[in-house]
Amino acid sequence: MPDVTELATEASALDDLLRKIDTRSARIGVIGLGYVGLPLVLLFSESGFDVLGFDVDPAKTDALNRGESYIRHVGVDRIQQAFRSRSAAATGDFGRLAECDAVIICVPTPLGAHRDPDMKYIRTTAEVVARTLRRGQLVVLESTTYPGTTREELLPRFEATGLKCGSDYFLAFSPEREDPGNRQFNNRTIPKIVGAIDAASRDAAVRMYGSVVEQVVPVASAEVAESSKLLENIFRAVNIALVNELKVVFNRMGIDIWEVIEAAKTKPFGFMPFYPGPGLGGHCIPLDPFYLAWKAAEHGVWARFVELAGEVNTGMPRYVVERTTEALNESGKSVKGARVLVLGLSYKPDIDDDRESPSAEILQLLRDRGADVAYCDPHIPFTRRGRKHDLNLTSVACSAETFGEYDAVIVSTAHTAFKEPSLYRYTQLVVDTRNLVPATAVKGRLYRA
Ligand SMILES: NC(=O)c1ccc[n+]([C@@H]2O[C@H](COP(=O)([O-])OP(=O)(O)OC[C@H]3O[C@@H](n4cnc5c(N)ncnc54)[C@H](O)[C@@H]3O)[C@@H](O)[C@H]2O)c1
Repeated sequence: MPDVTELATEASALDDLLRKIDTRSARIGVIGLGYVGLPLVLLFSESGFDVLGFDVDPAKTDALNRGESYIRHVGVDRIQQAFRSRSAAATGDFGRLAECDAVIICVPTPLGAHRDPDMKYIRTTAEVVARTLRRGQLVVLESTTYPGTTREELLPRFEATGLKCGSDYFLAFSPEREDPGNRQFNNRTIPKIVGAIDAASRDAAVRMYGSVVEQVVPVASAEVAESSKLLENIFRAVNIALVNELKVVFNRMGIDIWEVIEAAKTKPFGFMPFYPGPGLGGHCIPLDPFYLAWKAAEHGVWARFVELAGEVNTGMPRYVVERTTEALNESGKSVKGARVLVLGLSYKPDIDDDRESPSAEILQLLRDRGADVAYCDPHIPFTRRGRKHDLNLTSVACSAETFGEYDAVIVSTAHTAFKEPSLYRYTQLVVDTRNLVPATAVKGRLYRA
């Protein structure tokens, strides 16, 4: 028989939190102010909540408190509105987590050198949150991770405080579906999946997100929510791998994959177009699927599609370099000593995020073969040290004259700026991985890769 006083406590901790959410008097804490965390701070602040953003990087917290943005597509006007109005503040003082009624965790989940999950950010953050965990607090993990993380990594650290999940505090997982640069959807209009450790925690998290997003989708458990995010990313990784493999096959047969996709997508049902490219980039699709593969192995099963897609997609930069080598060879030039310009350093159009970008891998592979490499990206003025590369390059100018100085120009990112056909009027050789350049625009020859 449950103790009556226990039930009373349960009702009041949850009711108290729900009331604070409903009246917008709940203070929201967001840990990790990157591509995911910063837009979340703005979403809650613009919805009438007081928000405290936490980050270990003082450059970020200082910039925000000065009203500056460090992510190009997050407008400075929104940051100034939130941080100057004092409804939002940023800090590196994690003791202030005690002031928050809800804490949302958006720290990185990268891969280690052997493609195993690097859980140090989540573990450290769980320990930091545990230090100030108090009755009535809701904690939600948003970082992409393998199924079981919330229950296996967060819950035990929180229970060790003596507080009880579902009655004293509440714990949930809600995957972030942020798509930087997407003008059609934003974090208010993208439906938000919520799964939790128990029913009370789910109620709390659903109420919190329901007050800032248009649609909340409650699911049966934290594990279902964790897995749904992985399914979404694996779906993309596998389909992109499929068209990348077909690109190689069709190319050998003299068939243009882009024309094939255009034809196939006229089917009004049962087909969804995916497009080939120089390889996968970004913080999500190249990395997250391996979180599942790693966890699956613990259960004695193999996520074979994940591994195969990873193999095909990571082979793409090498394929682009091989196509460039063939193309140069046909012009009587070797890669060694050739001047090669790569267009685009970010992994997708019109953003400044270069994490895991295949362009960096292409530049490195060409440099390893003795090419004299350069890149042009209007969104990224200089290269930063990445997980695998430290290229130490500065972007060249985006002009026809500059492009004309190179033996080969590789189109790697479909930035709007590169769509201007006249840019290629002096270029001898274009290797286009994005179907961006019409053959008639190029002075010399055009290769698709
Ligand atoms: N970028 C996306 O489009 C996207 C989309 C969906 C999900 N995700 C997931 O969201 C999570 C965060 O990704 P992101 O792109 O925002 O990463 P990010 O690198 O842009 O931001 C992470 C932030 O966390 C900070 N940080 C690192 N360790 C910390 C700690 N111990 N305490 C506090 N702050 C810390 C970093 O300084 C950085 O500002 C990842 O799990 C990622 O897979 C990202």
